[in-house]
Amino acid sequence: MAYNTVLFGVDGRVATLTFNRPDKLNALNPEMWSEMSAVLSQVQKNPEIRVLILTGQGRAFIAGADIQLFPQFSPLEAAYYSKIGQDVLFQVEELPIPVIAAVNGFALGGGCEVAMAADILFAAEEAKFGQPEINLALIPGFGGSQRLSRLVGLGRARELCLTGRTIDAAEARSIGLVARVFPGAALMAETLKVARGLAEKGRTALQMMKRVIDQGFSQDLRSAIALENDAFGLCFADPDAREGAAAFLEKRKPKFA
Ligand code: COA
Repeated sequence: MAYNTVLFGVDGRVATLTFNRPDKLNALNPEMWSEMSAVLSQVQKNPEIRVLILTGQGRAFIAGADIQLFPQFSPLEAAYYSKIGQDVLFQVEELPIPVIAAVNGFALGGGCEVAMAADILFAAEEAKFGQPEINLALIPGFGGSQRLSRLVGLGRARELCLTGRTIDAAEARSIGLVARVFPGAALMAETLKVARGLAEKGRTALQMMKRVIDQGFSQDLRSAIALENDAFGLCFADPDAREGAAAFLEKRKPKFA
């Protein structure tokens, strides 16, 4: 299927969605949200795909919502647009497979918000992060005011969202927003290496791991650990769990389905 604003490719068990409006630094417009949502549905329906990578074409991952839209927005239209993005990012979070954001350049505003919906964030050394909406007399509309504090803590999130300050990849890593930083030329190769490693792991265990971490985080400890308990049990419904233990005991590499 051909898209106008994104590219989509599958290589073995790893799919890659590339934001592709490079002349506008991949600014998010309604068509991009809609195409992203269509790709996510396609990924969700395809059991052969075990990992999804999100990345950007050109100098940016995504330089935010398309500001061209803003002058015409009524409050209701703005809220509607914000809800579209929020729903697509829940779609990312709720995919049953791991999602890696390979942040190649600017990840500002909506770009930072898209990256934060991924399970793992990698960045090129030249990547830049921030929630600069405040500089437009706005606030983040795609979950940034909530996901950033969950990732880096309230104090840092307040400082970044209130000042609109842009940070580089090294600082993003030092505050825990980004897991690993690579030279730009190595970003995709390193991301693919990790993605292929994930693609070989047990599918149910990955899905349970992701669900328990995400859903448990906003719950009290007892409820969250009860979730873990159920999910731990469920892992044993998958023959992969037996294969994992058998392979360890037989001192060989496991071969998961
Ligand atoms: N919305 C719409 N267009 C955008 C955009 C956005 N969020 N970010 C970049 N663009 C467009 C620019 O208007 C420009 O288009 P043009 O060539 O038709 O004029 C093109 O992308 C290149 O951007 P430019 O600003 O010339 O590049 P730069 O290297 O000088 O600056 C940034 C890069 C990212 C610092 C700058 O583009 C920027 O601040 N973007 C907005 C970031 C932002 O506030 N995001 C949150 C929005 S809520």
